[in-house]
Amino acid sequence: MGSKTQTGIIMGVANQRSLATGIATQLHAQGARMGFSYLPDTSGKMQHRVEKAIEGFPSLFLEPCNVGADADIQAFFQKAQSYTPTIDFLLHSIAFAPLEDIRCPTVEASRQGFLTAMDISVYSFIATAKHAATLMPNGGSILTLSYFGGEKVVAGYNLMGVAKAALEAAVRYLAYDLGPKNIRVNAISAGVMKTLAASAVGDFSQMLGSHAATAPLQRNVTLEEIGNTAAFLLSPAGSGITGEVVHVDGGYHIMGSPSRACEKKEA
Ligand SMILES: NC(=O)c1ccc[n+]([C@@H]2O[C@H](COP(=O)([O-])OP(=O)(O)OC[C@H]3O[C@@H](n4cnc5c(N)ncnc54)[C@H](O)[C@@H]3O)[C@@H](O)[C@H]2O)c1
Repeated sequence: MGSKTQTGIIMGVANQRSLATGIATQLHAQGARMGFSYLPDTSGKMQHRVEKAIEGFPSLFLEPCNVGADADIQAFFQKAQSYTPTIDFLLHSIAFAPLEDIRCPTVEASRQGFLTAMDISVYSFIATAKHAATLMPNGGSILTLSYFGGEKVVAGYNLMGVAKAALEAAVRYLAYDLGPKNIRVNAISAGVMKTLAASAVGDFSQMLGSHAATAPLQRNVTLEEIGNTAAFLLSPAGSGITGEVVHVDGGYHIMGSPSRACEKKEA
């Protein structure tokens, strides 16, 4: 990861399976120092789960942040600054839409469901990037997580596909805005992984099967593979890359016909 120790913020760990946990694991292996956020709940369960997920890393801090509230985001970054005056990277690995608005055809989604999906899954990226940038006087790297359903229709992904399309556009506009400050902004379009957020997607098991059958690599990707690419993009090794959506999906997105598996069945 270069000579200087990298310091950054990880937002979006829910448990051991979270993409953010896999990414933090690889960043830790590369020597990075990290502070974490968690989504607070009244029972304190969420904090406990996140504590467990990150117990393998010596974390700088673990502080609450509900990205649906500006005051929370502001308070979180203020606290982060009290632990570390500057950072080199921010990982945003957060998405949410009400179940009833993604389990229905997109044409049936409610106004409120749309606003919530865009707020938590897209605006939060813009808002956290803005705060993170103030802690990056020497430049830095910001990364978010997207999915192929933002480019093409994936049955069952529905409203979240609309949000991911907006997220990927936000990556490009933020890359333009923050480029003069030497801050890079990218996304990983990840292959499917069984996580808490993924369980909200109706046809998820089917998606896992069809991705593995269709992808040129003929399998689903691993958390480690997503983590490795993320750690690369968040480190100075990715210094020439910004505004990019990097697919870590076994090549699934290049396919224009179903798969070899189907060809075999028909033969
Ligand atoms: N799992 C997959 O197959 C897959 C594929 C491609 C992209 N992604 C994306 O990866 C990202 C991480 O998802 P994941 O699959 O690791 O699931 P996850 O459930 O482990 O992570 C989602 C995170 O979002 C957080 N979150 C939700 N609402 C929040 C709020 N209001 N404030 C703060 N945090 C909030 C949750 O606490 C959780 O930590 C998401 O953007 C998701 O769309 C996932």
